[in-house]
Amino acid sequence: MDQRHAHRKDEHVFIAEKQFNIQNDNGLDQIRILPNNLPEIAVEEVDYSTTIAGKKTAIPFFINAMSGGSPSTTKLNKKLALAANKTGIAMATGSQSIAIKFPDASASFQVVRESMPNGFVIGNLGAGNDLHSAKEAIKMISADVLEIHLNAIQEIIMPEGDRNFYWRDKIAQIVANLDVPVIVKEVGFGISPATLKKLKKINVKYVDLSGWGGTNFARIENQRLHTENFDSLDNFGMNIAESLIAGQLYKNDFSFTASGGIRNAMDIVKCLCLGADNVGISGLFLHTVLKEDVAGLVKQIEDLKHQVKAIMTILGCHNISELRQIPLILSSGLLNFKNQLN
Ligand code: FNR
Repeated sequence: MDQRHAHRKDEHVFIAEKQFNIQNDNGLDQIRILPNNLPEIAVEEVDYSTTIAGKKTAIPFFINAMSGGSPSTTKLNKKLALAANKTGIAMATGSQSIAIKFPDASASFQVVRESMPNGFVIGNLGAGNDLHSAKEAIKMISADVLEIHLNAIQEIIMPEGDRNFYWRDKIAQIVANLDVPVIVKEVGFGISPATLKKLKKINVKYVDLSGWGGTNFARIENQRLHTENFDSLDNFGMNIAESLIAGQLYKNDFSFTASGGIRNAMDIVKCLCLGADNVGISGLFLHTVLKEDVAGLVKQIEDLKHQVKAIMTILGCHNISELRQIPLILSSGLLNFKNQLN
């Protein structure tokens, strides 16, 4: 394993956890759902099954990309995967780019498939990778789906990061030629309608909007590097509420994943109401598994499963398409944002 790259993976985990309690705003508090005082439904009638990248899943949230590429993130991947396997949720690995460059790092990702042999496993690569690397990444872990992350903001802050951002043609090649679905995702800055328009042109169908308000890679890189401080980017981006509202302009073109700062069951439900087909969670699950190990994470996932169903029940919704019919009240700030989009 390459020491410098492996060290960076460890630093990301360490600093993300250190920054976990910084108050961020995922924007979802600016959306209100009104009570349904006569729900006329029983809990057992609620079915929250959905799809991730067009593939069926029984549970509408999953462990999003984080880990792999160093000995300690191998252990972390194993713990996350054991919890995913026990609870039946899907899991994405962290970027496999390191294992494409240094094949001895592959085991750090393969541990995920080994721990959830029949589970829903999502691979992950940076947008600079080509079709050949995408095929390798899928083969490495028998991935059901591949995530490609767009992280220009993070890269530009990193002194060792990319400086060439010609990504679109490579993504188009990958989407056109892979036999598993591809999710194009952000890493916590949100995806704008202008970007969605470009993604539509190259036939991308699945997008994780990953908004601002949770793990903040500008802040992480600024804390990691002590050379040049680029903290004017710390507050740049769109939160997940804004990203989902903006995404509605393209709601017939994509199946959306919502992520970025998801902390509880109501956050998950609000994202589903706003048009997401599923919800990804990273920072919260990282915090729990580091503090409370696999058993603590399993309990948290089971609690979330129970609470999402409970909220759907009190809203009188049998399924996710009924959640989408609920009228939402937006704060004046969010309404103003929505009105300025076109
Ligand atoms: C990430 N994230 C991430 N995303 C990705 O596509 N590839 C990656 O390798 C990583 N690595 C990574 C490491 C760590 C430690 C964290 C916490 C996160 C980003 C992640 O998938 C997600 O988009 C953001 O973290 C926003 O969600 P949360 O953390 O606010 O729930």
